[in-house]
Amino acid sequence: MHQDHCALGLAPLSTVARSSVSGAIDIAQGKPVQPVTLVRPHAAARAARFFVEKFPGRSMYAVKANPSPELIKILFENGITTFDVASIGEVRMVARTVPEATLCFMHPVKAEEAITEAYFTHGVRTFSLDSMEELEKIMRATRNASDLTLCVRLRVSSEHSKLSLASKFGVAPHEAKPLLFAARQAADALGICFHVGSQAMTPDAYADAMERVRAAIVEAAVTVDVIDVGGGFPSSYPGMEPPPLERYFETIHRAFESLPISYSAELWAEPGRALCAEYSSIVVRVEKRRGNELYINDGAYGALFDAAHIGWRFPVELLREPQSTVRDHPFSFYGPTCDDIDHMQGPFLLPADIQTSDYFEIGMLGAYGAAMRTAFNGFGSDETVIVEDEPMVSMYTTVEREAASNVVKL
Ligand SMILES: Cc1ncc(COP(=O)(O)O)c(C=O)c1O
Repeated sequence: MHQDHCALGLAPLSTVARSSVSGAIDIAQGKPVQPVTLVRPHAAARAARFFVEKFPGRSMYAVKANPSPELIKILFENGITTFDVASIGEVRMVARTVPEATLCFMHPVKAEEAITEAYFTHGVRTFSLDSMEELEKIMRATRNASDLTLCVRLRVSSEHSKLSLASKFGVAPHEAKPLLFAARQAADALGICFHVGSQAMTPDAYADAMERVRAAIVEAAVTVDVIDVGGGFPSSYPGMEPPPLERYFETIHRAFESLPISYSAELWAEPGRALCAEYSSIVVRVEKRRGNELYINDGAYGALFDAAHIGWRFPVELLREPQSTVRDHPFSFYGPTCDDIDHMQGPFLLPADIQTSDYFEIGMLGAYGAAMRTAFNGFGSDETVIVEDEPMVSMYTTVEREAASNVVKL
């Protein structure tokens, strides 16, 4: 079906199966030898419509979260027509997939050749930057274009988020004045953007960041045409249940309305995770059990990068019929490669009688899961199946999965 990790031509792939079944349990009954990726187009469509209808501005999709062309088409068809791209590979892929889309090149440090191709070949007009050097680069690469929207990235705190984005990019608000001033001279439209860190657990993250925006605007005394609040909108994972997204939208709207430029400026956001986390999950097989450790056929080099490297926990669910009646027990996982670091600490709660040859589903892998897979050590699989059941957890519906076997384990 889709080819997430090869969409940008980054990894060679074998043929991918294309089929559609009603739910994860059907996959397990087919006893697949390799891990299988499940995709839920209806979940991505629902997330897109939610942002389009409820976010009080323009939502663009941050492609890095999951560059699947199928997903991009679903989002586009459901109203997300602007895409935040971070590399020329993403620019080319999105331009090919949805030629009518608007692309914004929001990586603050770009190759000059990438800017030139984006501007002249693909019609990209919006670029982010956080230094004078990058401003000069953009102007050189576009031959001093007069139709640019330039978004200056401010450094803001990641204290409310699970993944920091506060070190690498962004100009400190008190140092932003000269850059805002210079970008204002060069740009047709001037924007200010920021990123509060991924998986922001409280709307306060955005309220605090908007205060920094206010300070920067007042100090620089420039007219600003766009406020871009970036990504960071959360999804639901075990031990991380954020407030409803509407609360984030209300906070952002209030803060935006109170800025001195709100009467003339546009509000943008760049959600990645929130638009695609519920889109996919995987079905894996237990190859060996050693006490509380399960050796499974996907891992750190597959869709479980975050589970291995930053200890992220994902919902899991045993796919066995009849269901196990044994109580849950905490397990950790080993992936299939030969490395010790191919280890996912969890804990992941599964019935205590789980054994070799059992299958289970790992949910919420649509964001930064499918996108991170490699074929290291010859493991991994491209088999992808469209399913119609509900994701294990959702920010967009209170309806739980109906099948008795689909008990959510948090
Ligand atoms: C510039 C930019 N925008 C948006 C995103 C998407 O963030 P999230 O997935 O947390 O919504 C990222 C993620 O790294 C980013 O770097």
